[in-house]
Amino acid sequence: MTRLQPPLRVGLAGVGVVGQGLVKFLAASPDFAPAGRTVVITGVSGRRRDLKRDVDLGPYTWFDDAVALAKSPDIDVLVEVIGGAEGVAREAVEAAIQASKPVVTANKALLAVHGHRLAEMAEAQGVPLLFEAAVMGGTPAVKMLREGLVGDDVTQVAGILNGTCNFILSEMERSGKSFADVLADAQARGFAEADPTTDIGGFDAGHKIALLGAIAFGASPNFAGVEIEGIEKVELIDIRLAHDLGYRIKLIAEARREAGGATVRVSPALVPLDHPLAQAGGALNALFIEGARIGRIFLQGAGAGAGPTAAAVAADLADLLTGARRPVFQQSAARLRPLSAERTANRSTAAFLRMMVKDRPGVIAAVTDALARAEVSIDSFLQRSAQNSGLVPIVLTTHVASENAIAHAVEQIAALDAVAETPRLIRIAKI
Ligand SMILES: NC(=O)c1ccc[n+]([C@@H]2O[C@H](COP(=O)([O-])OP(=O)(O)OC[C@H]3O[C@@H](n4cnc5c(N)ncnc54)[C@H](OP(=O)(O)O)[C@@H]3O)[C@@H](O)[C@H]2O)c1
Repeated sequence: MTRLQPPLRVGLAGVGVVGQGLVKFLAASPDFAPAGRTVVITGVSGRRRDLKRDVDLGPYTWFDDAVALAKSPDIDVLVEVIGGAEGVAREAVEAAIQASKPVVTANKALLAVHGHRLAEMAEAQGVPLLFEAAVMGGTPAVKMLREGLVGDDVTQVAGILNGTCNFILSEMERSGKSFADVLADAQARGFAEADPTTDIGGFDAGHKIALLGAIAFGASPNFAGVEIEGIEKVELIDIRLAHDLGYRIKLIAEARREAGGATVRVSPALVPLDHPLAQAGGALNALFIEGARIGRIFLQGAGAGAGPTAAAVAADLADLLTGARRPVFQQSAARLRPLSAERTANRSTAAFLRMMVKDRPGVIAAVTDALARAEVSIDSFLQRSAQNSGLVPIVLTTHVASENAIAHAVEQIAALDAVAETPRLIRIAKI
């Protein structure tokens, strides 16, 4: 006679977008029982008990204190969907691990900053710490890298990991509106947060690439070492000129193995129009992976939202139920080294350089001379007619050259009397 197993009891810390998504998922999927054992939420924690929500939290025990929820004997697993690298989210996760309870979290900030320490704690307690929902929402990038590609040597992961930025850049191109106008629209329609800094400043994508780089390369995440530039300075003119040259500007988060270390960074970059990353528009997320054996992989899908993110949390719950076990970041915590994000000395790139110059003879010669002296060669060149300001936009792309040399040439060009403002430098993605 088979004995019925008791349901897995979830303590849900955070009942916002993702938390409510999980409540809805479990209500709509009573047969979700990957190993013959169902899942029930027993306790929930939030900040505002009286807030009216889309789901009825009445059936669950309410905890004002998420740490008390984490320690409660009535839960078997903590699902942490509060957010933030510090504070109650971190305390609740640590408390659950110390109490030998598995943790499922969507909190990229927490893991990007404290992932190594938490992996050590989880390993010492022998409990899983799972985070599929933390990167690309419902699109299974974490499992693919941590499990599916563990037999390969991944050399590069590069992607569009922030839907808000992708929406804003796509919308600027579509509507011809400025960054500020599109951001204001996006905020009014709820596509961007009231304080958009984490998204548009590139920090959210930085958290995610710190995690993907860690699992791709078997390292520990090192958010402090991620070089981050957001999309605030992307102008419509750059989007248009890049398009004329056969590129689209995307916020690209990448982790790449290089001789002597790794580069982990987030910045606007030009992507050829026919590359799949260029075609992921709107709020989509997309990821390009290169492995020494498998070659190139491309993954695209929803990066946020209650439904997709809850599905990713459910996928982690399925791993708990089936007993699937993997080290948190691909190898045991004792062997993890921080993903070396030190700038490798001779990093190289091709670049897009846009400048506004005064309409007078000899300017272009002076610009090309500055580039030649820095040993940066020009690949293509475009000049547009003078704008109302009387300034003439010129744009060029370079062949691959040392990043230091390009930066030096930009300094020289900026100092030219005929150049009205510091040239806009955007790298061309190596994908
Ligand atoms: N939204 C997405 O699509 C998405 C996708 C992937 C990953 N994530 C990640 O998932 C996590 C949650 O995101 P979200 O969008 O669901 O956030 P959210 O809607 O702002 O919800 C956060 C929840 O945390 C609760 N909370 C805040 N401070 C608390 C405290 N001191 N004690 C207990 N509860 C507290 C809030 O309570 P009240 O409701 O009472 O204020 C709220 O229910 C974040 O780490 C986020 O990065 C989100």
